[in-house]
Amino acid sequence: MNIKSVILGVGGYLPDNIVSNDELSKTVDTTDEWIVQRTGIQQRHIAPEGVNTSHLAIEAAKLALENAGVDADSIDLIVLATSTPDQTFPAVATRVQETLGITQGAAFDIHAVCTGFVYALNVADAMLQSGQFKRALVIGAETMSRLMDWSDRATCVLFGDGAGAVVLDAQASSGAANERGIIKSKIRSDGRHRNKLFVDGGVSTTGTAGHLRMQGREVFKLAVGMVPKILHEIIDEAGITLENIDWFVPHQANARIIEATAEHLKLPMEKVVLTVQKHANTSAASIPLALASAVKDGKIKQGQLVLLEAMGGGFTWGGTLIRW
Ligand code: UT7
Repeated sequence: MNIKSVILGVGGYLPDNIVSNDELSKTVDTTDEWIVQRTGIQQRHIAPEGVNTSHLAIEAAKLALENAGVDADSIDLIVLATSTPDQTFPAVATRVQETLGITQGAAFDIHAVCTGFVYALNVADAMLQSGQFKRALVIGAETMSRLMDWSDRATCVLFGDGAGAVVLDAQASSGAANERGIIKSKIRSDGRHRNKLFVDGGVSTTGTAGHLRMQGREVFKLAVGMVPKILHEIIDEAGITLENIDWFVPHQANARIIEATAEHLKLPMEKVVLTVQKHANTSAASIPLALASAVKDGKIKQGQLVLLEAMGGGFTWGGTLIRW
């Protein structure tokens, strides 16, 4: 039997505390004008002390389950993407599992930085298609604020905290073109670029969590160059054209990168979901947060074609084509 992974529901959760560009400019040498002009970011949510990645992930997971109309005990797989786990181990996914009262199946974390959610979706989809698991929670959750060097204006203005989740259900597929579910998913990496975006600490090196470091301009150029290629491959292999796409949901790092990518793909901005202005870059959480907001706003509707795209540290990149 062929299986399709169908998204039953989506949820997004942001910590209450909002920090505007003007507020940041009181502690670091920057301006609202510079940040908006270069990135489109107006504000970010920052988790207060004591609120960890797992707390955000659990709230997003609960909202996704509610939106899907299914009980937590029907979940037998949790794949959680994060670069900011509560602890070095165990995986954040096991904390989510415990809190939701799930005692079956498997739960683990994936580490692919800003591409984390696309990687997690790819892995969960393959595991459902193998017949090993029936229903998955796929989560992206981050407290990027904990990795910031708050004296480095080139990075600390760019990131925020949050979490998003989807419920992915294994359903029998007849192969019909209008069937719901993940149609095509592709992930890539190229370690030659790992020093352009990294954290300068780690368990087996400094013994500290470290701070995020980035060659912003290099990352920008690579993002605009690499991403369209993989999206063209996905579209071609799916036997559709870009005009068929109803919604483009890119990783929310920088509005300028998103605009350049959309222009390259000849996708009008009306078809692009943009949340970076309110959320900033929440790394692995940015796509599920954008999906949750677009569904809530009545933009993404059942049966529509949705194209996801992400790139980040590693370098990692990838895309997913979904019939919602
Ligand atoms: O998920 C992937 C994660 N990363 C990204 O997507 C980031 C990709 N890169 C970018 O978005 C852009 O490169 C940035 C927004 C990070 C930076 O924009 P840029 O146009 O590439 O600026 P730049 O790094 O070349 O810096 C230009 C100037 C510099 O001053 P000088 O040397 O020209 O005097 C910086 O020191 O802007 C200065 N600058 C700032 N000024 C005010 C850097 N950060 C700031 C700041 N406020 N926050």
